[in-house]
Amino acid sequence: MKKFPIPESLQRDALLDNETYIRLYQSSLLDSDAFWAEQAQELITWDKTWDSVSNCDYDEPRIAWFEGATLNVSKNCIDRHLDTRGDKVAILWEGNEPGEVRKITYRELHKEVCRTANAFKSLGIAKGDRVAFYMPMVPELAIGMLACSRIGAIHSVVFAGFSAKSLEDRILDAECKLLVTANEGLRGKKTLPLKSICDDAIGKDSPIEHVLVYRHTDAQVQMELGRDLWWDEVVPAQESDCEPESMDAEDPLFILYTSGSTGKPKGVLHTSGGYLLYTSLTHRYVFDYREDDIYFCAADIGWITGHSYIVYGPLANGATTMMFESTPVYPDAGRYWDIIERHGVNIFYTAPTAIRALEKEGTSWPAKYDLSSLRVLGSVGEPINEDAWLWYYKNIGHERCPIVDTWWQTETGGILITPLPGATELKPGSATRPFFGVAPCLVDDDGKEIKDRVAKGRLCIKQSWPGQMRTVYGDHKRFKETYFSEVPGMYFTGDAAERDEDGYYWVRGRVDDTLNVSGHRLGTAEIESAVNHSKYVVESAVVGFPHEVKGVGIYIFCVAEHDLDDVEVATKDVKATIRDIIGPVASPDHIQFVGGLPKTRSGKIMRRILRKIAAGDTENLGDTSTLADPSLVDEIIAGKQR
Ligand code: PRX
Repeated sequence: MKKFPIPESLQRDALLDNETYIRLYQSSLLDSDAFWAEQAQELITWDKTWDSVSNCDYDEPRIAWFEGATLNVSKNCIDRHLDTRGDKVAILWEGNEPGEVRKITYRELHKEVCRTANAFKSLGIAKGDRVAFYMPMVPELAIGMLACSRIGAIHSVVFAGFSAKSLEDRILDAECKLLVTANEGLRGKKTLPLKSICDDAIGKDSPIEHVLVYRHTDAQVQMELGRDLWWDEVVPAQESDCEPESMDAEDPLFILYTSGSTGKPKGVLHTSGGYLLYTSLTHRYVFDYREDDIYFCAADIGWITGHSYIVYGPLANGATTMMFESTPVYPDAGRYWDIIERHGVNIFYTAPTAIRALEKEGTSWPAKYDLSSLRVLGSVGEPINEDAWLWYYKNIGHERCPIVDTWWQTETGGILITPLPGATELKPGSATRPFFGVAPCLVDDDGKEIKDRVAKGRLCIKQSWPGQMRTVYGDHKRFKETYFSEVPGMYFTGDAAERDEDGYYWVRGRVDDTLNVSGHRLGTAEIESAVNHSKYVVESAVVGFPHEVKGVGIYIFCVAEHDLDDVEVATKDVKATIRDIIGPVASPDHIQFVGGLPKTRSGKIMRRILRKIAAGDTENLGDTSTLADPSLVDEIIAGKQR
């Protein structure tokens, strides 16, 4: 395949060229501790340095970096910039309406974070306590997260597209004492009743003692006396100074829930020192970040991309990081391009699903705007198809900007496989090569590493890196089972990948029962268990199918309790049930009622067949002879076509 060369301007002055990448990469693996110690000295301000750089054992598993060291994350993200960057904009916020802008300098951010930290303390929050956030994309979300890190509290941000039930489950699992929300969120023409969803998430045995409500719109909401407090009545009254708590490098920074193939979502736990170092270093090199850049990551902070590459990485580097509240199509499909032009954005990072949605709207939208400020483009969350890559490269980057297709996961904390702007020639659809300190490998079905250069297998990582998750909150056994049992001695990613003749990696998708829908990870078991709550359904099977915009769409096969009088009513009920139990984020694309599910004689659902039917690939169903009732398959196919 043709490689896309490094643009000339980047060949001249990028932070890293190919030779430097190769040299540093080799040394990062040969003497990983020495490499990370050097980076840690350079990038992080420690209160005390470490006794040991790494202390990791994938067999136990135990993962620890910079033990004995202490630091404060908010001090690294704010205080240390005050002398040289006090008046620089730290957070550049664009609200729901075009041109609705807030600019928060590092000095202002310092004051706001201190006030918020003091407010949290006044509400009884102390080091180690958990604080849940259910917020729109407003600066107060980042401020609240940093306030937690200032006092050593652990944040758990729940994406506002999850339901009250999902929020409740996460609050209970982490035993959060404080919930921070807004009266309402705004997304395009929609308003999201966040506070009222929070009310539904707090049952009578809830550990939540207080709800702090940011007044984002004029909407009146119910406030429970003694429990609920307005942000604007509590925070501004606080002192604007708050001594940062010196934390151990391995003290938890946050929990972020993510779906797995079985059971309820897992609380992925990240700690302080290693995570901050890893996000800071990757942010600098992957985006070829320069001091005066306007950096725009269009993710939502409710996901890991927002945590690592809107908040922690960029702020640790003293960057101007944008936060965008609305959607790429509000008020029209030119919104991102308008923002890039108005703010002079240099680095733009988004997901393939957004690129595909905007590609459908046509090239006339980006053509209306001056995008010449752009230098680097990024992609994250799912494989990017060649067509979308080329559209992005030509129409947004005008063939001048490299696309960094960054592969990583909630669990990895930061980017693991990625091109580097001045060092890597690009191939559309490939995340290319590993970042420093990352040792990927491909493993066959017997769990053996495939050493051939050109290979295809399950993607594993052989040694630890500082940004790696440390445990599943409250369930270390599950941590071991999920990530370290599949291939002993290695971290198992759950992805399938290929390696080509240049050693480039092509990540193809999940091998477990999770779906990557619009770059959001959802568990099929989790959706099935929600669907089965519908009064019309006795059993269901959820599979993914290729979707033009979302990458993967959700297809649900439902078995009804008895003959349905009205399939439409039942379908609506299934949709509503999913919204109630998981949230709009899991809205299905297709629901089909069937007479039964194809099962083996031992009662196992043959998902392979359902996946093919959902994808419309019915010519090639493979071996169906082990099915208990092969005639069901024809019935399902006929039902789909109807
Ligand atoms: O399957 C991979 C896919 O997204 C999964 C991780 O999902 P999540 O934890 O929600 O984090 C998304 C944002 C980091 C991975 O296991 N994935 C992520 N980035 C890429 C990708 N697949 C292919 N190419 C990518 N660049």
